[in-house]
Amino acid sequence: KRPVGAPDKKLARPVSKVGVIGAGLMASQFALLFVRRLQVPVVITDVSQERVDKGLSYIRDEIAKLEAKGRLDADGANRLRALVTGTTDKADFADCDFVIEAVFEETGVKQQVFQEIEKHVSPEAILATNTSSLSVEEIGSVLSNPERLVGFHFFNPVAVMPLIEVVKTPHTSEEALATAFVTAKNLRKNAIGSADAPGFIVNRLLAKVMGEAARAVDDGTPVADVEAAFAPLGLPMGPFALIDLVGWKVAAHVQDTMVRHFPHRFHASANLHRLAELDAPLERDKKGRITGWSKKAQKVLETGSSP
Ligand code: 3HC
Repeated sequence: KRPVGAPDKKLARPVSKVGVIGAGLMASQFALLFVRRLQVPVVITDVSQERVDKGLSYIRDEIAKLEAKGRLDADGANRLRALVTGTTDKADFADCDFVIEAVFEETGVKQQVFQEIEKHVSPEAILATNTSSLSVEEIGSVLSNPERLVGFHFFNPVAVMPLIEVVKTPHTSEEALATAFVTAKNLRKNAIGSADAPGFIVNRLLAKVMGEAARAVDDGTPVADVEAAFAPLGLPMGPFALIDLVGWKVAAHVQDTMVRHFPHRFHASANLHRLAELDAPLERDKKGRITGWSKKAQKVLETGSSP
């Protein structure tokens, strides 16, 4: 297969307004990054005003923290606040030239979102998906203009992790690809080109680590011991701290995608989905170290039943 080479940067389109679909934690984190690094208007949307307001309030809190740390002066912070808006009306995306989604990890949901957004944006607008493991080509198959779709996958925590996986489908245009690479650079991230394969690069590796760690727990090893076993390896966090960071539901979705596509190479943990139904399955000490499971999680593991 042809490797995903670096595109001709001259083909990149200017990005003067960004649309973010989904106002969850991941989307809010990168909405903030777009406004901070590109200094252009960013509009976020979600299915309800309540969710939009939650995303906006996260962004405003983070701007206040940056101001308190001295990373932004008062004028800079006010400028960012003014550049971020929320809406439930997709018509407000009409003048966006880069629209990225981070909605529920289900191909059908993402397809619906893009079909709807395609009605509102100009034919030149670049569309991007932050999917963590789904096929970008399949997501774009419902578009009348699938060549404008590119994968643009951020990592948690967005403010700190330096990587963006740029995913090219067989249809992605050189313009869309170049815009993605140049935008990643303007966000001060390292863009790596990835083939449109399940889990791309990072999640196919992490799914192994997280999945096998979860299966070690399925086998009866205490969670704190699995976590402690990783400490000498020098990784910034153990597998369960990582699952907790990215979100249990996200981790479970990544696992499902990998098992579906590579049933001989990936094996599901019986408990991951059940634990993902709990708000906070892990107990931690004052220093944030994982000490064990919450009472509810313990019951789930002992009985093998859903909470
Ligand atoms: N949100 C925003 N900023 C955060 C943060 C968060 N959740 N966690 C930490 N930070 C910031 C802190 O504010 C601090 O910033 P400052 O220097 O401006 O004050 C900086 O990060 C360092 O923080 P700490 O000193 O508290 O943290 P550590 O040195 O312990 O590092 C870490 C924290 C960066 C999260 C580190 O543990 C790490 O790199 N962990 C691995 C993370 C990882 O592998 N992420 C990829 C997950 S996979 C994924 O997201 C893909 C998805 O599809 C599943």
